[in-house]
Amino acid sequence: MQPVAQNQFAQFTPASGLAALPADTRDVLHKLSAAGQLPQHVAIIMDGNGRWARRRGEERSAGHRAGADSVRAVTRLAREIGLKSLTLYAFSEQNWQRPPAEVDALLGLLVEYLASEIDELKRSDIKLLAFGNLQRLPLAVRMVLETTLAATANHQTMKLGLCLSYGGREEIVQAAQHLATRVAKGQLKPEQIDEAAIEAELWTAPLGGPPDLLIRTSGEQRLSNFLLWQSAYAELAFVPTPWPEFRELAFAAALCDYTRRDRRFGGLSGGRDDA
Ligand code: FPP
Repeated sequence: MQPVAQNQFAQFTPASGLAALPADTRDVLHKLSAAGQLPQHVAIIMDGNGRWARRRGEERSAGHRAGADSVRAVTRLAREIGLKSLTLYAFSEQNWQRPPAEVDALLGLLVEYLASEIDELKRSDIKLLAFGNLQRLPLAVRMVLETTLAATANHQTMKLGLCLSYGGREEIVQAAQHLATRVAKGQLKPEQIDEAAIEAELWTAPLGGPPDLLIRTSGEQRLSNFLLWQSAYAELAFVPTPWPEFRELAFAAALCDYTRRDRRFGGLSGGRDDA
């Protein structure tokens, strides 16, 4: 892994979060939040870093670096408008197939981000969670991750879930293995395996609930092995903005769009009975 570079995040503009939005957009968000219309849990596939950087004639890693600033901007806004959980797809199980230099750059950036964010997470009462095959991560990443997880473990205001070395299929496979082991030991009967039993074995169980809104940036329209079980009834938003440009205004627009969706969960619209 590359050594941790100097702290680039210290240069991040103070006009972030709600303060970065025009006053009328802030008012709309406050009203939607007060009316309980915003999603409680947003999950994001942060796509498009590499293409964004290449279009600017830069290395792909420059896109990831700019993407880390978007992480900070979106996290701050999510916290300020009262979301309960934000789950980010930071590194997939399949991302290990990328060239070693890019994997190193991504993981180095993650170390840098965690080291620089711990104070803000403490100030903001955000609880960090991490989901995935975490034992695959290099020691340097696991160490700073453990420190940050422990330092924020009692925080209550918002959960920030980082999916690291994560795959939705892999998550379901390990849940099935755990349940099968309990059945083999006589601790569980096969007929006791229901949705709740499976959910309790998913890596994301500590989030306490599925995403209401799943956003993918940069125009691609697929789930790429992200939260496959959990997204059964998530509203999906595929936005053209590349992740490094997905800042407060783009996030606010996605949240407002969500409030116009009609979530039926297989039933009928609220109170409608025209059958
Ligand atoms: C997809 O863009 C993005 C990733 C594989 C990693 C996401 C990582 C970050 C946003 C930065 C670091 C994260 C944290 C939490 C600090 P891509 O490279 O696949 O883009 P492309 O589709 O344009 O190639």
